[in-house]
Amino acid sequence: MTLSGMWVIGYGLLIFKPPPHVEYQVQGYISGFVRRFWQSSLDHRGTPEHPGRVVTLVSYEDIKNNRQFHDFFGDVATISPSDLKVWGVAYYIAPKNVQEVRQYLDVREQDGYTSHQVPFHITSPCDVEVQDRIVSSIYIGTIDNESFVGPESVEATAAVIRTSVGPSGPNVEYLEKLVAALRELGETDEYLEQLIAVSTRK
Ligand code: BEZ
Repeated sequence: MTLSGMWVIGYGLLIFKPPPHVEYQVQGYISGFVRRFWQSSLDHRGTPEHPGRVVTLVSYEDIKNNRQFHDFFGDVATISPSDLKVWGVAYYIAPKNVQEVRQYLDVREQDGYTSHQVPFHITSPCDVEVQDRIVSSIYIGTIDNESFVGPESVEATAAVIRTSVGPSGPNVEYLEKLVAALRELGETDEYLEQLIAVSTRK
């Protein structure tokens, strides 16, 4: 069977809040990126007066080519391939629903996210025959978007997350749901585990 609809990857909100009209769901990872809470949120998990933090991805290419990351990460050559693996899920949307789901997802572009195509490596069974590697849509707040806050320490991000609340709820709830969803998939993300430990410290 040839699948001619759209695959879309969830690495943040979409992991615990899937888009509408999902036909198949698989688990896996993308390579060459780090997942960080470095995107400010003015209208979901924060407000314009007190912006929260939500996830985005930073590519290794951007890390290598921008001084701000060298100062933050130190020797970028020591970032290992396993540090550049982002676990998540990919959802298959049938052709008849692609336009509606794209519109649903594109609303997020208002927050600085733009749509890209990346390979997704599937590690779980799928109800339909698929290749191990599929090209999927993904929404990324790239480093040149206005809401990208730049490299920020876990402590600094946690201080924002602890105190931010937006129309979608407390910022810390978004982090807790993401970590819980990843743990349920059997994956742990070291950065997220550190961030939740500091954000929920009494
Ligand atoms: C996600 O993968 O959950 C996602 C992240 C940013 C924008 C849209 C979706």
